[in-house]
Amino acid sequence: DRSLKIAPSILSADFANFGQEIEAIEAQGCDWVHVDVMDGHFVPNLTFGPPLCKAIRKHIDTVMDVHLMIAPVDPYIDAFAEAGADILTAHLESGPHIHRTLQAIRGAGCKAGLALNPGTGVEDIDYLLDMVDLICVMTVNPGFGGQKFIHSQIDKVKKLRAMIGDRPIHIEIDGGVTPQTAPLVVDAGADVLVAGSAVFKGGSVDNPAPYGDNMRAI
Ligand code: DX5
Ligand code: ZN
Repeated sequence: DRSLKIAPSILSADFANFGQEIEAIEAQGCDWVHVDVMDGHFVPNLTFGPPLCKAIRKHIDTVMDVHLMIAPVDPYIDAFAEAGADILTAHLESGPHIHRTLQAIRGAGCKAGLALNPGTGVEDIDYLLDMVDLICVMTVNPGFGGQKFIHSQIDKVKKLRAMIGDRPIHIEIDGGVTPQTAPLVVDAGADVLVAGSAVFKGGSVDNPAPYGDNMRAI
């Protein structure tokens, strides 16, 4: 299904109220819920692991899209799968054996995603295309919400769309997505837009209505 999907990143939600925040964005019509896992090693920030994913899974009626910004990945795949991840996305840059990692993700029963940092080209992924359900193009350097969109990545999205051809692979954009940048990547061929700060700004668990307005603006 190539229709446009919005995946709010709960990295910008109220961490003390994940349940209510997730219910609010789903009530406002989000398509997927994007969960950013950071290890303080692959990226310079720490967030959460499988127990928290398992706890919030109960509140997710749509799709739990888990973005692993960790290295190594392989020792944790089963734990995230058991926590209820629908999609597990690993970075090409996370280690020397991304092929094995993608095999293991599908082997654990999840859809497999491949994320590319802004400095990574598309030349090395030909032999991975039949192993992935999603390619995540990072349009910021991973680690933090609220950063500025890196425009050079639009060209990468166009190249990927051409490489993918008619394979059923989503192109997800992650970082700096706003009402201004969203049309640029959709025109280039993206179909899943992650947005953290742009969705959660201007709201709270007591007043979540702006989340829907923000998603509709994107
Ligand atoms: C960054 C994360 C993103 C982040 C996006 O490393 O992967 O998912 O939450 O945040 P915004 O939309 O604020 O750039
Ligand atoms: Zn992310």
